[in-house]
This record gives sequence, structure tokens and C-alpha cells, in this order.
Amino acid sequence: MAELGYEVVGLDTDADKVRRLGAGEVPFFEPGLEELLRKNLEAGRLSFTCDPAEVAGWADVHFICVGTPQRAGDGAADMTYVDAAVETLIRAGLRPDALVVGKSTVPAGSAERLARRLAAGTGGTGPGGARTGEAAPGGTGTGRARTAQPAPGGVELAWNPEFLREGFAVDDTLRPDRLVFGVRPGGRGEAVLRAVYAPVIEAGTPVIVTDYATAELVKVAANAFLATKISFINAMSEVCDAAGGDVTSLARALSHDARIGGRFLRPGIGFGGGCLPKDIRAFHARAAELGAGPALSFLAEVDRINLRARERTVTLITRALGGRAEGRRITVLGAAFKPNSDDIRDSPALEISAELHRAGARVVVYDPAAMANARRRFPELEYAPSAHEAATGADALAVLTEWTEFRDLDPNALTPRVTGRVVVDGRHALDGPAWRQAGWAYYALGRPPA
Ligand code: UDX
Repeated sequence: MAELGYEVVGLDTDADKVRRLGAGEVPFFEPGLEELLRKNLEAGRLSFTCDPAEVAGWADVHFICVGTPQRAGDGAADMTYVDAAVETLIRAGLRPDALVVGKSTVPAGSAERLARRLAAGTGGTGPGGARTGEAAPGGTGTGRARTAQPAPGGVELAWNPEFLREGFAVDDTLRPDRLVFGVRPGGRGEAVLRAVYAPVIEAGTPVIVTDYATAELVKVAANAFLATKISFINAMSEVCDAAGGDVTSLARALSHDARIGGRFLRPGIGFGGGCLPKDIRAFHARAAELGAGPALSFLAEVDRINLRARERTVTLITRALGGRAEGRRITVLGAAFKPNSDDIRDSPALEISAELHRAGARVVVYDPAAMANARRRFPELEYAPSAHEAATGADALAVLTEWTEFRDLDPNALTPRVTGRVVVDGRHALDGPAWRQAGWAYYALGRPPA
């Protein structure tokens, strides 16, 4: 938002994060974000605070971007942080013409509930209420000194999900493939959001204006579709294993059908991260609450196929070691749930590593960005400072996150370091024939052994 020219204050409860961000330091790995942060700090458009009083009565538009993690037990989304953010804004005193914009991924029906809460808490009219006058479009980048406009309908809520991918967050935010505005009919949400996103809309980004429930559903439907596509190809990988086929050729052949397309059709150890796994569970849980559980029962199967890919990988690595992992030294390259990220939430690479460790293997992990996070979460694993050092003395090598650095590894250079020339390519990232040429036994799910 600062890059689009607005004056932005970021509010967080974590004082350490606020301090680091204010000093120009991004507390996680995201290509291009630190440059953008520093540029906008220097331009004076961006600052950070822990004090709600500094922002509540000042901003025209409040984006709620807090997490909705998986709730323990039932798989539903934990709304604690979203609810707390709304209560904080209400308590701190919003401007009467403010627009609160939800970006968090929430169960369908949350926006409606929060709109009522905001209306009750700020004396507004709520989602069904009448609009009594002309609204002042907000978010136009005016400064802190702006005088309050009359408040025709009171504080309003809009839902505006984001679809950014980790590793591409900057580009996905500045150049999104669509904007979705869930707004109150007859309210001023659409006008305000169109003003806020004017530069993005002028660049040709399609805008879908809809109701709250649809906007909430677009996000989880998108993630459910992507997860299903990945599990579909991993299911084909299981069938290829049974039938002696090659899932990479199969995926390539499917991808030429424009109706199917090749994106999110990469087989391997499956999806992880802070979104796909918990979003399909929360979506299913919410659908069941709404009485539409059977419509999404296939998502439970998508989840099972995904978790099975991890089990199949443990089995494949064990088989590659001759049937026993106990006492063997296994090098795992990759800890992050995907490349260009230091995020290890529900990371298939680390779950597989931990399972091998439980089976009695010595597991040595290396990742270009996620070492600190991995070590904190799995202190029982061993860690090495480079791929080559991790490979020293290995009985088998498993590539579980497809960082470019691992794709580019030269098997001949690794040969003198390892004890056994055995490689398991969890992401179909390596040039199998080249590794075999170099004398390595190459294994991958869904592909026949050489
Ligand atoms: C996802 C959605 O893509 C994004 O639109 C949403 O806003 C947040 O959730 P992200 O979690 O950053 O983004 O990762 P994504 O690129 O979708 O990958 C998710 C997981 O699927 C990763 O573990 C990745 O390795 C895996 N994956 C992806 C596959 O196994 N095969 C594929 O073909 C694609």
C-alpha cells in the first residue's frame, strides 16, 4: 500500500517485529520485500506501531491481515486473532467513516458476523442497514492531519481476500491476477476499494465485486482447487507406481491439454505450508457446519492422498537403503515447505525427516533459508551449513525442497563425499539420467526404477 503511494502504519502486538520492521528488517524470508520496505520507510510513507490509538482514529481504511491457524481438534479455522483485531479497533475508536477491510482467510459467514459486531460497537447501521447520505471515498493517501468527514452509514466492512504465494508475495500483491471485493449492498465499500486499488485496476487487473460470503469462499475455493490438482497428480503417481508408468511423462502429456494446464500439476511429496493444508480442513469443517459437508467430502481424500505422499517417500527412502533406515545416515536437502521461503509450517520435507529420525536414522538437514526455523521446530535432527557438508558420509541423499541450488548440484562433485550413491528425488527436480550416468541409484515416486 505504501508502494502504491499511501501513508501506511502497520499495527502489530509483537513489539520485536514492530521494532525490526521499523528498522527496515523483514523478520522472514521473502524475495524483494526488504528493498520495498526500506524504500517506503525512507520515503516516510510507512511506519509501525504497537499502539492501536495511533491508527484507529487516523486511518481511512484498516486492513485486517492476521492469521487464522488451524484450531486444535476439529480442523476449523481459529478466529481468535481476527476477532481480537476487530475488538481492538472498536475499543481504540474508529473514525465514523472508516472502512475495515478483511484480508484474512476466514470461514464463510465471518464477515457478516463481524460487520454486525462493528456496527454494534461503533454505533453504525450494520450490514443490512440503510445508507443515509453520500460517502467520502477513503484511502486516497491523505495524511494524518485529515479532518473527519461526515459519517453517512457509519463504519463499514468489506472482505478483500489476497491470493499471494510465498516467494512471489511482492509481485502477487502489486500485480495480482484479480481483485475480489466482498461488500455490503448499497454501501460505500466498493467505491473506497476502487479508489484504494486505483493504480492496480488501471493496470488492467479484473475486479469482481460480490457479497461477503462469496468473497470469503473465493479464497478457500481457490486453495481447495489447487490442493486437489496437486493431490490428483500424486494419486496418478500412486497408480503409476502400481502400473509401472512414469508420472512425470503423464503430467507433461496432460499439461498440453489447455483445459487442464501444467501449473500445480507437479507430483512429489505433496503440499504443505501455512495455507493449503489448513484451508482445505477449515473449508470442509465450515461446509459441514453449514450442512454442505458431503459437497466437500472429497477434500478429506485430497488431504489423505497428500499425507500418503509423505509416507510413500519414507518407504521409498527406506527401500532405497535396502529396507532399513535404522542406523543409516540420510541427508535431507530442503526444510522449507517450498523453495524461496523460510516457512516450515507443515513442511513435508521436515515431516519426512522427523519420521526417518523416529525410525532410527541419523538425519542431516540443509536448507538455504529455513535452517533457524527448522532447528527450533525439530531440534532432534542434525543440521549442516551447506549441501556438500550435509552430504558427507551419507548413505542416501533426499532432495525434498526444489531450491535451484539443489537442482544445479553436480552428482560427480558429491560422489567423493558420500558413503552410498543413492538419491531420492522427492520433487522431480533433478536430471535423473545425469545422476544415473554419474553412477547414482536414482529413485522418485511414480517413476519406474532404472
Ligand atoms: C498458496 C496459494 O498458491 C496462494 O494463492 C494462497 O494465497 C496461499 O496458499 P503458498 O502456500 O505460498 O500459496 O504456496 P504454493 O505455491 O501454493 O505451494 C503450496 C505447496 O504445494 C508447496 O508445498 C508446494 O511445494 C506444493 N506444490 C505446489 C506441489 O507439490 N505441486 C505443485 O504443482 C505446486
